[in-house]
Amino acid sequence: MKIVVTGGAGFIGSNFVHYIYSERPDWQIVVLDALTYAGNKENLSGLDDNRVQLVVENICNPEAVDETVKDADAVVHFAAESHNDNSLHTPWPFVETNIIGTYTLLEAVRKHNIRFHHVSTDEVYGDLELDDPHKFTPETPYNPSSPYSSTKAGSDMLVRAWVRSFGVQATISNCSNNYGPYQHVEKFIPRQITEILEDRKPKLYGTGENVRDWIHTEDHSSAVLAILEKGKIGETYLIGANGEKNNKEVVELILELMGKNSADYDHVNDRPGHDMRYAIDASKLTKELGWQPVFTDFSKGLENTINWYKQNESWWKPQKQETEEKYKELGR
Ligand code: NAD
Ligand code: DAU
Repeated sequence: MKIVVTGGAGFIGSNFVHYIYSERPDWQIVVLDALTYAGNKENLSGLDDNRVQLVVENICNPEAVDETVKDADAVVHFAAESHNDNSLHTPWPFVETNIIGTYTLLEAVRKHNIRFHHVSTDEVYGDLELDDPHKFTPETPYNPSSPYSSTKAGSDMLVRAWVRSFGVQATISNCSNNYGPYQHVEKFIPRQITEILEDRKPKLYGTGENVRDWIHTEDHSSAVLAILEKGKIGETYLIGANGEKNNKEVVELILELMGKNSADYDHVNDRPGHDMRYAIDASKLTKELGWQPVFTDFSKGLENTINWYKQNESWWKPQKQETEEKYKELGR
């Protein structure tokens, strides 16, 4: 088995590569990644070159994509521009990578008849009210809010069309907010941990009542593998681990786990169009494919993540100053 993992040098993609590396020891893994600001070769260090090959190319380049995927058995597509705040500032790279990049990959897997799994987000469904008794299901209508989520929604639509019109052998997954090692410091949890490690206060957008449904990235990896191996072609699976928490609770827990006063954070400007709540009903995945999350204790998972950032300062330090300068410009 030879799989191509696009975006395999990013946060979730590299965690997936590590997961596959240990769970499927006879698989060859080719990482196709442009190494943007969010990609890092270091995320793949320690893996045997004979099994894991890094191809530094852009998924919008049809020749490079064709050459990389042509003899693969499957393509798992994580590569994307992934940060909402960046998309509100500079939307074009989101349109380019998320839409044109996905189109380019679809054309290559169509030509070579290769199994395709498309990794997407719960944000395509828009947001829920805090007191809504319903969660997102595969039947929830698409209603994206930001340039990021609308381009991910567009990419999902392309995959569905390529399945129906061209018979491409594809599945889609829409997952909730991930946390764990190797996440860029621009994102909520690593930003707060590293702010505290640099002796500054965490930064909470608005009132902090917005809810995210947290899942450990290794549980995301096991779900994607289950869908790749057992999923039904043409189907969409929602991935989540019943991890709803509001942002205020998360900041307070991080402070507490790091031995600080849990009230010692700043409120900063809110994100424009900020989605209020995401919540996933993953029952299709658990019932049809027998998948279950393993990291069900958020506090423990968060503590492990904090320890990872404490022990890997040389990994995150080079990204930190530039990231905070960008936030300063946005007043956040
Ligand atoms: P990330 O930003 O950490 O990593 C993205 C990776 O894609 C990087 O390695 C980057 O170099 C690469 N990349 C970007 N543009 C590229 C291009 N044009 N060509 C080739 N490579 C390119 O993102 P992430 O948080 O790991 O997210 C991975 C995927 O999972 C995305 O598709 C995202 O929409 C989805 N997702 C993320 C979350 C989350 O909580 N982070 C939740 C659900 C779904
Ligand atoms: O739901 C899945 C999505 O989760 C993925 O598709 C995205 O790729 C991923 O980035 C994430 O999107 P969010 O916008 O939810 O994640 P972010 O880490 O940017 O923010 C999480 C919440 O925390 C959100 O409500 C905004 C808030 N926030 C964020 C930052 C960076 C803060 O309060 N302070 C901050 O400093």
